[in-house]
Amino acid sequence: MKIISILNHKGGTGKTTSTANIGAGLARLNKKTLLIDIDPQANLTEGLGLINTEKSIYDSIKDDKYKTPLPIVEISEFLHLVPSSLDLLGAELELVSRSKRESILEKLIHGININYDYIIIDCPPAMGLLTLNALVPSTTVLVPLEAEFYAYKGIDRLINIIENVQFNFNPELAIGGVFITKCNSQRILTDSIKTSVKKYFGEKLFDTSIRVNVALAEAPVSGQNIFDYSPTSNGAIDYGNLVDEILMKI
Ligand SMILES: Nc1ncnc2c1ncn2[C@@H]1O[C@H](COP(=O)(O)OP(=O)(O)O)[C@@H](O)[C@H]1O
Ligand SMILES: [Mg+2]
Repeated sequence: MKIISILNHKGGTGKTTSTANIGAGLARLNKKTLLIDIDPQANLTEGLGLINTEKSIYDSIKDDKYKTPLPIVEISEFLHLVPSSLDLLGAELELVSRSKRESILEKLIHGININYDYIIIDCPPAMGLLTLNALVPSTTVLVPLEAEFYAYKGIDRLINIIENVQFNFNPELAIGGVFITKCNSQRILTDSIKTSVKKYFGEKLFDTSIRVNVALAEAPVSGQNIFDYSPTSNGAIDYGNLVDEILMKI
């Protein structure tokens, strides 16, 4: 059982798109997969076709007696989701005085994790308490990097934070790797970005990059993953390859 946090402090780097489609790709291979949306923006939840769910992760997080189990919605036989909602926006502040406030999600996951091969957590674009709650129970961090010059700007701080979590809360946490998203078709530009990212991350850079593909942006509008929405698209091919690489390396 692996718990993977999809993390980048920047917005728009493809965290949510990657969570949805890595999850769908794993489920397609009959791996029992649970997606957890811990971003107050709830993009993952909405992108899977769920709007105004009756219960969200917030209901479980706010219950300091831990009597409210995580709500789990069945997307398909092998793919389940813990939905988020805007209520979660207040959580960071509401939890300030809670004891063990960094391990709330860990407690909530305990016991349900045995039902899954993979749990994938879609993190918010911030390094606050919600992200810390994602990292504490995680075995692995994956970082999607948007293909642009200095994509790794600020990434050394991100790595510092991960090391800090390893040291203080979770010695099991490993940086599984980084992968490039939104790759442009202008080959020369993309190649030189890849070269610089490779220099920085070495082995940790995945061979698979995700190309810019409009189907990836369209799929969530109809509540679908890329494999159902457009199985022959570049997006489906790229996320299919990424899933294979994740299965091999993690
Ligand atoms: N490879 C891609 N090609 C085209 N659009 C993409 C791609 N990856 C993500 N997007 C779009 O870019 C925006 C930001 O992606 P998202 O996954 O929500 O990033 P994050 O969760 O890191 O903020 C979304 O509108 C999404 O549909
Ligand atoms: Mg997101």
